[in-house]
Amino acid sequence: SADKLVDRHGRAITYLRISVTDRCDLRCRYCMAEQMTFLPRAELLSLEEIALIAERFVARGVRKIRLTGGEPLVRRDMIDLAWRLGRQIGAGLDELTLTTNATRLATHAEALFAAGMRRINVSLDSRDPALFRHITRHGDVTKVLEGIAAAKAAGLRIKINMVALKGLNEHEVGPMLAWAGEEGHDLTLIETMPLGQIDEDRADRFLPLPRVLADLRDRFELVADDHSSGGPARYWRLAGTSTRLGLISPLTGNFCATCNRVRLSTDGKLHMCLGHEDSVDLREAIRTGGLAEVDTRISHALDLKPAAHDFRIAPGAAPAVARHMSVTGG
Ligand code: GTP
Ligand code: 5AD
Ligand code: SF4
Repeated sequence: SADKLVDRHGRAITYLRISVTDRCDLRCRYCMAEQMTFLPRAELLSLEEIALIAERFVARGVRKIRLTGGEPLVRRDMIDLAWRLGRQIGAGLDELTLTTNATRLATHAEALFAAGMRRINVSLDSRDPALFRHITRHGDVTKVLEGIAAAKAAGLRIKINMVALKGLNEHEVGPMLAWAGEEGHDLTLIETMPLGQIDEDRADRFLPLPRVLADLRDRFELVADDHSSGGPARYWRLAGTSTRLGLISPLTGNFCATCNRVRLSTDGKLHMCLGHEDSVDLREAIRTGGLAEVDTRISHALDLKPAAHDFRIAPGAAPAVARHMSVTGG
């Protein structure tokens, strides 16, 4: 049962996303409620357990691992984990990468590069200090921009992730793209997804990306680009620069047919789809049956991978799934 990972819809799984912590030092309004209950520490996979499980995935064909959360850099042994997983690069793994809010990136950028990372994604929904504070409830954008600068200086290529939010950061999309072009960063725009209860109605903030793209094409020269990063984004290139504009549109343009990923949650559950409740418990597997049991359950999980998510955003609608993105790792 240690075969390659192909699901019932013929999709090969080559990308593992690992949520290393559900905690975060920010409280972005579209992601978390102001008052959040986090998992007790005893529920978390240890560094060793994460590494052993990840190594099974690499042995079975996973070529890309992304560490995410929550905010990965709030976990104390995150850099040790990066070092441990970094050993797999070139030995089956093509890429080890990270999605971070960058508040602590200035401290860790060089270590991440040394561990083998070459490209990271940074969540930044606004460069305006007051608006950034409003969206994140706690954040200081100065620290984030320092973190991004430090990462660039350390040799990491940077992709900015910006969740497009109606009435909040709409007017900043153009300036963000211009800034990314000047700095040599990529920019990916994301539609807000209905995961976990928050304090507002997501329908009030939902911005369909096709409209945002049409606006951008009036103001910038964008050339269609068939690049793939192995993630769900569709890409454009900002003419005259190295900057790629990516669009992640789970609501207006479903990309499930080419899905190549699964997610390991903070508490060791393997989620086959961001938009479904089903999961398989790999924490119990590793603690009771060891790696052979992990392999068996991974195979079983693949058979459960659904064809597609079923996201909808409508006024007053409940989230598609109860858990927040931070538990599953986006
Ligand atoms: P790249 O390697 O740069 O392509 O990264 P990525 O887009 O896979 O990862 P990132 O962590 O930057 O995720 C950006 C956004 O895409 C997050 O909001 C993710 O939740 C979302 N995303 C990634 N994979 C999926 C997916 O399979 N389904 C859905 N609905 N959203 C996804
Ligand atoms: N919908 C869309 N994107 C989200 N993120 C967090 N929660 C949501 C949500 N409900 C984004 C973060 C980060 C990425 C990993 O996921 O902004 O960039
Ligand atoms: Fe794949 Fe599910 Fe994501 Fe769709 S929502 S792309 S099926 S993980």
